[in-house]
Amino acid sequence: MNIWSWFGGKRDEECILPINSSLSVTLHQDQLKTTTTVACSRSFQEDRIWLNGKEEDINQPRLQSCLREIRRLARKRRSDGEGGVDLAGLSHKVHICSVNNFPTAAGLASSAAGYACLVYTLARVMGVEGELSAVARQGSGSACRSMYGGFVQWIMGQREDGKDSVAQQVEPETHWPELRILVLVVSAERKPVGSTSGMQTSVETSSLLKHRSDSVVPARMKEMIDAVHRKDFAAFAELTMKDSNQFHAICLDTYPPIFYLNDVSRHIINLVHHYNQHYREARVAYTFDAGPNAVIYTLQQHVDEFLQVVKHFFPPETNGGQFVKGLPVASTTLTEEL
Ligand code: ADP
Ligand code: CO
Repeated sequence: MNIWSWFGGKRDEECILPINSSLSVTLHQDQLKTTTTVACSRSFQEDRIWLNGKEEDINQPRLQSCLREIRRLARKRRSDGEGGVDLAGLSHKVHICSVNNFPTAAGLASSAAGYACLVYTLARVMGVEGELSAVARQGSGSACRSMYGGFVQWIMGQREDGKDSVAQQVEPETHWPELRILVLVVSAERKPVGSTSGMQTSVETSSLLKHRSDSVVPARMKEMIDAVHRKDFAAFAELTMKDSNQFHAICLDTYPPIFYLNDVSRHIINLVHHYNQHYREARVAYTFDAGPNAVIYTLQQHVDEFLQVVKHFFPPETNGGQFVKGLPVASTTLTEEL
């Protein structure tokens, strides 16, 4: 789950290199997760993938990049005499089955969870070990961060080949046990503009995006990491909300504009500010990724009260929404099944 939108577009679409660094927090627990199962057999005729029970096109370039790269690493490990899967296994085709237990393509980072889980599981099946975040990045940029638990930064890097554009854990999942995340599902529908094509248009047309990556993100990134280290919720909250707002300002500055927030999202934003103003401190923060669904950060002691307030203003039966309640932040988004 992004604390801070990873948005920023990509300086290189081929390698999936971002134009600014970013930070996210990885959720664990059963409430929001991707479960990926990979089977490998001599009897399979071709590689295939099913997403949420429906067969998808295996030839999507990003999926192919991940498969190709894991197989290359497996072969290399084999030829370096480091073990791993046997040669016969390497030539076998795979069947991949992946299920998200939360809305797919609705701004809740299914691509990050999905590709992180896929790369990790494929690597296990093929006996590949070591740093895999660069492979996950080939599937979906934000997936590189989701390979680690806790607070994770994706350092943009400087190199043309992207070798220094890597994910790095800022603090482990045990760092801030009182932190809670509430996901308010405003709409489970697929977003009208996918993240990849949205970002490409923004990079081409938004001048605010350039200002953001040159002048805003580098300082904000430092402040944010510092707030996380110090567990300073008020500072963390303000930076998170400002960054979410700037991301959506860039969506508006994109031509033609992209609207990810809807009226309910904007009501939630107002509600959070009123709530914080009432207490004269930032007790709750929102962030919205590329979709209308709100991710709320707060501390354990405020969860019950804030949820009462949300339910008062957005009774589930009238807005059709659902609430995913009180997720502790901990080790990993991923569940692996071999
Ligand atoms: P989101 O906001 O959910 O990340 P994106 O537009 O970034 O939305 O990505 C959605 C796409 O990610 C899907 O159309 C699909 O191609 C891919 N994806 C989502 N979940 C998985 C999964 N579990 N395994 C593989 N790919 C997935
Ligand atoms: Co995504």
